[in-house]
Amino acid sequence: MTDKDKYFQESISSGIPTYYFLLRDFGVGKGCKNFVETGTHLGNGVQYALDNGFDEVLSCEMMQDRYQHCMNRFKDNDNVSLWLGKSDDCFSEMVNKLTEKSCFWLDAHAEGGGVPTFEELDVIKNSSIKDHTIIIDDIPVYFGGQVAELEQKLLSINENYIIEYFPVDLGGERGRVDDYELVAYV
Ligand SMILES: C[S@@+](CC[C@H](N)C(=O)[O-])C[C@H]1O[C@@H](n2cnc3c(N)ncnc32)[C@H](O)[C@@H]1O
Repeated sequence: MTDKDKYFQESISSGIPTYYFLLRDFGVGKGCKNFVETGTHLGNGVQYALDNGFDEVLSCEMMQDRYQHCMNRFKDNDNVSLWLGKSDDCFSEMVNKLTEKSCFWLDAHAEGGGVPTFEELDVIKNSSIKDHTIIIDDIPVYFGGQVAELEQKLLSINENYIIEYFPVDLGGERGRVDDYELVAYV
């Protein structure tokens, strides 16, 4: 079984999304101390990061009701910091707080917020830490014709990045979709 299939099978048998296991092995497993997310939504990514044992969890969400929901959901977690706003407005501040290797889950897109991933990668590129793990969701949905450009941008942050793609189970008729999540790591 390839690694890609291993993560897919783990996800199917546990009912937990593939990215939980990617955070475990390419985040915590590669020495990342903190978790940084764009697009908090209802807080599932934050919870998976807490379950994986990251020291600090930082996340931003542009929708007030979702932000409020998560402020309430994580009110007892001192190590969770949430921002209300588009990543254009708060991602630099989030990244500037990092003093250690961290794991990024770039998952802000659509619903009127655009696809700010290239801008987010520019912010990471301009920061001093060059060995973060970067995981990007929904590759076929938002980056269909731009995968080469995305890889180039990642390699401009660190030419030693290894870039891999993993399948997810979208359920129902869609089922398994290959190359859905991109992981860049050293
Ligand atoms: C796919 S959901 C995120 C799911 C979440 N990361 C998780 O793992 O459970 C995408 C979220 O990104 C938010 N969003 C979209 N564009 C954004 C932007 N430019 N800045 C911040 N949040 C954004 C949406 O409101 C939505 O809640």
